[in-house]
Amino acid sequence: MTDRLKNLSGTKSRKPVDASQDLTSILSSKVVGQPNVINVIVPYIEMFQAGLAPDNRPAGVFLLLGPTGTGKTRTVEAIAEALHGSAKNIVKVDCGEFQMEHEVAKLIGAPPGYLGHRETTPMLTQQKLTAVTSDQSALSLVLFDEIEKAAPSLTRLLLGVLDRGVLRLGDNTTVNFDKSLVFLTSNLGAKEMMREISPEFGFQSATPGKAAEDLTQKLQGIALMSVRKKFSPEFVNRIDHVITYQPLDAQSFAAITDHEIDHLQNHVNSRLGGRCFTVEVPFETRQWLIEHGTSPEYGARELKRTIHKYLTQPLATLVAKNQIEPGSRARADVTPDGLKLIWRVVSQGEETAPSHPTVLLVDDNRDLLQFLERLMAESGWELIAAENAAEARKLAAKRKPNAALLDYMLPDGNGVELAQQLRQKLPAIEVILMTGSVLGPEEEAICEEYDFPVLRKPFLASDVMNQIRARLASKTNRAR
Ligand SMILES: Nc1ncnc2c1ncn2[C@@H]1O[C@H](COP(=O)(O)OP(=O)(O)OP(=O)(O)O)[C@@H](O)[C@H]1O
Ligand SMILES: [Mg+2]
Repeated sequence: MTDRLKNLSGTKSRKPVDASQDLTSILSSKVVGQPNVINVIVPYIEMFQAGLAPDNRPAGVFLLLGPTGTGKTRTVEAIAEALHGSAKNIVKVDCGEFQMEHEVAKLIGAPPGYLGHRETTPMLTQQKLTAVTSDQSALSLVLFDEIEKAAPSLTRLLLGVLDRGVLRLGDNTTVNFDKSLVFLTSNLGAKEMMREISPEFGFQSATPGKAAEDLTQKLQGIALMSVRKKFSPEFVNRIDHVITYQPLDAQSFAAITDHEIDHLQNHVNSRLGGRCFTVEVPFETRQWLIEHGTSPEYGARELKRTIHKYLTQPLATLVAKNQIEPGSRARADVTPDGLKLIWRVVSQGEETAPSHPTVLLVDDNRDLLQFLERLMAESGWELIAAENAAEARKLAAKRKPNAALLDYMLPDGNGVELAQQLRQKLPAIEVILMTGSVLGPEEEAICEEYDFPVLRKPFLASDVMNQIRARLASKTNRAR
């Protein structure tokens, strides 16, 4: 019989993070694009660490809702990594496996007197909760996945856990959840949420702030309504927070991809030691992976698998065949037909392909320049700047930027003319125009014809970056 409850306790190999480090920033780097989630959960962990969590109930109970592949399960894993040093230190109950009343006995063990009760060891025991703690933290993380699928008797049992922090087993002993954070996840309302999320949304976080805020509110409303429909008020009232995950935007997909590739490089370094080499994944390849591994429907769910299939596996074959010299550079490029990736060892002296976009900014506003430069540097982007059209043309010819952000008013011309010239020299370049005023009808027509979006000043710097990311991402899309 398979063990239906996946007690993922296991190797405590990796060291947990230094407790003095800020838990919020550690979790934010692991769970991308969901700041609200982290802000809600962290205080409960800190309360527990400070010994101030209430007695006779779990240290925190959270219901995680929202579209698939947006980081619900990843959040619990990330907390396990931060507290205990391994994503495996979680007690996970797949509620989908306890849909029938008789299956629930497997979770808590059959009562004495039932045939074979001695053989049915309960799957949820105090020992299992303790086994997922570590020397660094006594807090156990318990995850009930897909809670809406649980048989009603499991929901009733859970009510006791949420209310008094106690689960009574078949043999009448109890399991105490005082030192646990309980996470319930559910796809309730996910279908309705998908209807709200336009197909492009995942790639269009340049959606103006207001629209994004409205969507957040709508998704939250849908989530709460479906929870109230499904669960009794007693159950809902015992949940500390119902958290709705947001669809991921282009920036988040890019950050997750960068993470996974860094992870691959670290893996190569630690596994091969002195025989290690540099993994080079140019920007275009990263965009290709994002394009193939993410979607509004499934979020980042397929991204890891895509990276495994197109990067890790072929790389492993090259290593196994001894085709990569220690200390060399192996690079994955998109094939000219855009259909797959191809690995090759880069010859010495060949320039490193940038792994992030290069953006040309043409504006004489130094404050904007400095601000954007800092923001882009944080994402690994490179900003090259010019104050006039002549300088911009020279820089573009030399550095071949992936995108350009042009002010309309230039000392030696206007942004629309410059945009056309740049497009002529660099057909793949994405150009965005910025203006403080309204463009004339002729210029508007040119922008439409060439597909140059026009940003009205003032705007948020993060909106510009997302706009550029979205444009670059959809270009990969168009190319396919
Ligand atoms: N916000 C995120 N930050 C970092 N990685 C993420 C995020 N969202 C998704 N991922 C990546 O996608 C994978 C799937 O995400 P996860 O399992 O957390 O989805 P989920 O929200 O639990 O979806 P489901 O509702 O289908 O269970 C993760 O293993 C991770 O690689
Ligand atoms: Mg999940």
